[in-house]
Amino acid sequence: MSDSVFRKKSVGKAVADTDEGDSSHLNKILGVRDLTSFGIAAIIGAGIFSTIGRASVNGGPAVSLLFVFTAIACVFTALSYAQFASTVPVSGSAYTYAYVSFGEIFAWIIGWALILEYAVSNMVVAISWSEYFTSMLAGFNIHFPAYWATDYGSAARAYAAVQASASPGSLPANTRELAQAFQDAPTVGGLKLIADLPAGVITILITSLVYVGIKESRTASNILVVLKLAVIGLVIAVGAFYVKPENWSPFAPNGVSGVLSGVASVFFAFIGFDSISTTAEECRNPQRDLPRAMIYCLIICTVLYVLITLVLTGMVNYKELGVDDPLAYVFQKVDLNFVAGVISVSAVVAITSALLVYQLGQPRIWMTMSRDGLLWPRFSQIHPRYRTPSFATIVTGFLVAIPSLFLDMQFFIDLTSVGTFFAFILVCGGILYLDAKGLSRHSKFKVPYVNGKYIIGAALVIALVLVVRADGFVSGIQEKPLLAFFWLTWAVMAVLAFRQNFSLLPVLGILTNLYLMTELGVSNWLIFVIWLLIGLVIYFLYGYRKSKLALENKA
Ligand code: ALA
Repeated sequence: MSDSVFRKKSVGKAVADTDEGDSSHLNKILGVRDLTSFGIAAIIGAGIFSTIGRASVNGGPAVSLLFVFTAIACVFTALSYAQFASTVPVSGSAYTYAYVSFGEIFAWIIGWALILEYAVSNMVVAISWSEYFTSMLAGFNIHFPAYWATDYGSAARAYAAVQASASPGSLPANTRELAQAFQDAPTVGGLKLIADLPAGVITILITSLVYVGIKESRTASNILVVLKLAVIGLVIAVGAFYVKPENWSPFAPNGVSGVLSGVASVFFAFIGFDSISTTAEECRNPQRDLPRAMIYCLIICTVLYVLITLVLTGMVNYKELGVDDPLAYVFQKVDLNFVAGVISVSAVVAITSALLVYQLGQPRIWMTMSRDGLLWPRFSQIHPRYRTPSFATIVTGFLVAIPSLFLDMQFFIDLTSVGTFFAFILVCGGILYLDAKGLSRHSKFKVPYVNGKYIIGAALVIALVLVVRADGFVSGIQEKPLLAFFWLTWAVMAVLAFRQNFSLLPVLGILTNLYLMTELGVSNWLIFVIWLLIGLVIYFLYGYRKSKLALENKA
């Protein structure tokens, strides 16, 4: 059995499979500009428009450095994605890459984890869209009922907090508003009717667009991205005149731990650069364009994020940034209400385009998995007229819309980040596999090779000496047990690199992603493990038996 769960697809077969069946009729129209635009559309969204505030309130101006550190982890990963995308230009993204490098069960696990990156992150994006949308309406004096723009849990918790408080007036305004929403909500049969209707409706609308066609999605995405970049440019250019350098001091008020507490939010803001690899079969020249586009969009977004963080933390004291709409808030604080209004409106636009890209990506991954026999055949059915994976798109629409109507976003931010880090680590590891098996020679783009034979071990020794001398080794592990796993992985990598002359950059990708992943805490890892176990049950009940590779091997 172990032979069969680790069965691998050859690179040639992965590419040849795209010509089989319905999905060979996808339109091949995307170029490097479209792909970069899709990337930016995916990356810049709820993260920079809302969760950045929460990261800054703990980390202070030094969160800008966390953006740089996280971007470095993402660049190592993007290079690895780019090499895979140029070797196996197939819609399945990391799922396909795992299939050719680690075997079927890993491919399934990655495909299952990618649901967290695409569908679950889109629940966050949809909920965040709803927040900005309702506050934009409020700016026009249209007041959407609060109980139909939030989730039951948040409203019920806020209500309980107000009931339990001796002085409810001292609670944050947001809590009081949610409690009021709970109280005002209509009741049917004793149950409060509370749901985030805008989040559900926008998801359905965007899914309809994705269903109708890649061309329409491309045009919409390109327009939305231009608008989004213009607004980010406005924030930076106008905000720079209001920066007071004294706000940057202290730079890291809560030390390294304060900065690192923002990892999930900051990483969430970067998620998406990899999503463009899911459109590989709709590219004119995927081998050349996908690597370029991925690196371009990552560089553009990193520069913008660092500048925005510096502007925000320079305009107001970092302690004030714990709001849902920090970009608009800082301009209200300096009495530029018109600019604040423009930002609120454009946030709605920006978040819409992120939503579109993930709704586009998820069905294409399922399409590839279904083509391999790991999911039901209907998931690779292509609409005869629109030439899109129609059934998979509809399922994605409901899968994202329904939870976003009823659930709280915070939980999903962490879950998305754990799943995405996991996928990134496997993609970086996959490059080491391609190198070891000599498959890299088929790659039209290669991760620049630096021999890691000595560097990885030497860096481990230096890091250990520094940490031990600072008395941080044991206490670090006591505080965060997952760090033990990180050090162990580094040690194993050092030995393997010495033996196999590992390429340095993918190893750095593995280690930086893993380090950031340890910051997410044990409970998130546990939930992730449960998610994986559910996925494995489905695999053994269906994909394991129906896998095309298994059936071909038997024949
Ligand atoms: N990076 C995406 C966002 O910020 C997920 O919304």
